[in-house]
Amino acid sequence: MQYGVIMAGGAGTRLWPLSRNEKPKQLLQVVRGKSLLQLSYERLRAILPANQIFVCTGEQHRAAVLANLPELPSDNVLGEPMGRDTANAVGFPAAVLLKRDPDAIMAITTADHVIEPQEKFQASLKTAFAVAEQQPKSLVTFGIVPTYGHTGLGYVQRGEALKIKTDAGAPGAFKVQSFKEKPDKATADRYVESGRFYWNSGMFVWRCDTVLGELAQHLPESYKGLTEIAEAWDTPRRQEVLSSVYPKLPKISIDFAIMEPASQGKGKATVAVVEMPVQWLDVGSWPALAETLATDEHNNATEGGAFVFLDSDDNIVVSEDPNHLVSLIGVSDMIVVHTKDTTMVCPKSESQRVKDMTVKVKEKF
Ligand code: GDD
Ligand code: MG
Repeated sequence: MQYGVIMAGGAGTRLWPLSRNEKPKQLLQVVRGKSLLQLSYERLRAILPANQIFVCTGEQHRAAVLANLPELPSDNVLGEPMGRDTANAVGFPAAVLLKRDPDAIMAITTADHVIEPQEKFQASLKTAFAVAEQQPKSLVTFGIVPTYGHTGLGYVQRGEALKIKTDAGAPGAFKVQSFKEKPDKATADRYVESGRFYWNSGMFVWRCDTVLGELAQHLPESYKGLTEIAEAWDTPRRQEVLSSVYPKLPKISIDFAIMEPASQGKGKATVAVVEMPVQWLDVGSWPALAETLATDEHNNATEGGAFVFLDSDDNIVVSEDPNHLVSLIGVSDMIVVHTKDTTMVCPKSESQRVKDMTVKVKEKF
């Protein structure tokens, strides 16, 4: 059976002070009144029933996740005692799903991008499911056409086309020639110029037994721990085993742990890529998020509260409190974020330093 799993474990520190430990980025309802988690869920829900969708997140966010997704069965929230990066955020749901369904195929998706249009996402997803069904030893990635040499992403080199039966007009699938996670700038630029590389979307489709087989080979410690957790899952020992085993799992991303070695032929699986021709917007920082917000005639992007501008252009102003007026006079290119306990003011050009501020704030309070 087909399943959809959303990894929602990031902190989103560059969206402080709106994103907080107790309310991380993917739970903020900031994109047209919806959260990134809700948008990710809706994208999957269009092709899968609610009981086949799972969310892997920090256990402390269970209640908030269920409030965001009221339709989701509580048991479909897989709560991690602590984040151990994506190799485990993939392996954990894979192990639990395999236990209940030996033919489980999972689409593992992220919750940190706005993806449009939804239909293109779904068409690529269907092709990826077809690849995993017809070539069971496949690890399927999704390729986004790159626009510049971003060093914070993975790169997937497209090889020959795969012969997969799909609906007419569906996106095609290709063998992956190479996979490189987070290359240096010169390499990233070279990849983009070659026209043969995609950005790795960070989402994958595979049979659960296939990805766990790779984990067993490349990251045996994780495989062993996750199998132990899955064995105890339907017993009264679930929480006890989870909280003793999970925190000790090696912390590494799926890209470094499995995708790179598998693409070099070091595993039993083969890596495939399906193009995803979507707008793919990382809303991880204030300027990026602002691209999704409405703007006034002076290009001030606003969300949430009450605002008045006088001779002020190109600002980003976000407030949680509709009864608190935020006013700007004669300033441009500023970010102003007002929450119930914090106000942050920062020039747009310094938006990457918001993360540093969260560290500083932690030291002080
Ligand atoms: N549940 C859970 N637990 N989720 C996690 C954890 C964890 O420990 N760590 C990360 N995630 C979630 C994040 O919330 C995000 O949705 C997704 O997994 C990817 O993690 P990132 O930490 O944001 O990865 P990245 O951006 O550095 O790189 C990955 O994504 C890129 C695309 O955005 C890689 O797959 C790259 O190859 C890819 O290009
Ligand atoms: Mg990311």
